[in-house]
Amino acid sequence: MRRSILLGLGSYVPDRVVTNEEIPYLDERHERRAEVQTETSDAWIRTRTGVEARRYVPAGGSMACSDLALEASRRAIADASIEAREIDCIIYATLSPDIHFPGTAVFLQSKLGISGEEGCACYDIRQQCSGFVYGLQMADALVRTGTYRRVLLVGAELHSHSLDYSTRGRDVMVLFGDGAGAVVIGPSETDDERAGVLYTRVGADGTGAWDLYLKVFEISKAPYVWYDAADREQNLVKYPQMNGKRVFLHAVRHMVLASQRALSETGLGWNDIDWFVPHQANLRINEAVTQYAEIPPEKVLNSIQLYGNTTAASVPLTLDHWRREGKVREHDRVLATVFGSGYTWGAAIFQI
Ligand code: UT7
Repeated sequence: MRRSILLGLGSYVPDRVVTNEEIPYLDERHERRAEVQTETSDAWIRTRTGVEARRYVPAGGSMACSDLALEASRRAIADASIEAREIDCIIYATLSPDIHFPGTAVFLQSKLGISGEEGCACYDIRQQCSGFVYGLQMADALVRTGTYRRVLLVGAELHSHSLDYSTRGRDVMVLFGDGAGAVVIGPSETDDERAGVLYTRVGADGTGAWDLYLKVFEISKAPYVWYDAADREQNLVKYPQMNGKRVFLHAVRHMVLASQRALSETGLGWNDIDWFVPHQANLRINEAVTQYAEIPPEKVLNSIQLYGNTTAASVPLTLDHWRREGKVREHDRVLATVFGSGYTWGAAIFQI
């Protein structure tokens, strides 16, 4: 039987470490000022979110989301011991694309040096914090049906340029960081029904769409940009808006249900799972999910303390981080669960 397996894993974060202590001093270009710009504190951020630091790209615009994806992809491709030209499909999950269109997968393809007349399929998907599990479900289906043999799935986000660095936006701003994670997925002929990608299920509830969104423009209206983007008072539309408490409650509920369902539908128990990797939105969310879903705490992997919320990148980035630390090993089985804007959610069980 043909199953899909993870052939390679890689991640990348930019060099600039932004600690909680530095956050109050950042201006709208996330450059450090002498005077306080935002009323917040290390103590609030640490206790309410678990975040201690995050990574940002340089302020000058030298790095796009596809550059973060490129580094993570190169590492995943090297880890898979293949050449970039063997990739026959790219699935790129992001809420922070390089530009409005075309999608960012084609920029990544070009940067990987594999564009041209025989260029591979390029998909962009959204699904925000749930993008990686949505993409894994697509990749799994495409590989198992024999449509593609080497799918590059990348989750990459550049948040730092679109955050509101003022007291008005502090609830959202302190959470997010830049980063990318990638996997290469390919086929394996095996009778082992537990090999590779064992389970994926995703869902969505559009009634939650306005609980976490970023407008920038409304294309149903003309002119669809109607504000002065340089004016901090007018440019609210440029920044993510969140009903934090509602999103928090729904995140806990859906990640608990998705994890429990993943186990009941596969017949697996926690003895069969090496690691639980929840989306990294808030450490308190993950602690609540761990408690309510009765997950052995020693199996839970978090990285939000170091990287903040990197949206579509968070699951592969967390896995790669703990693999580099020597905790996660080849063939370990992971249950990942995600929740994000949309609302969207999902769970997956797969082997590294
Ligand atoms: O990745 C996609 C999914 N996203 C999430 O899952 C995020 C879910 N939501 C959350 O993580 C939390 O709701 C937040 C971290 C965003 C906010 O935490 P909270 O415990 O829900 O705080 P709150 O919004 O109820 O605010 C409590 C207080 C308020 O002050 P008052 O009205 O009590 O005086 C806020 O103005 O904390 C204040 N506050 C802050 N203070 C210092 C909000 N943000 C900050 C801040 N620094 N950064």
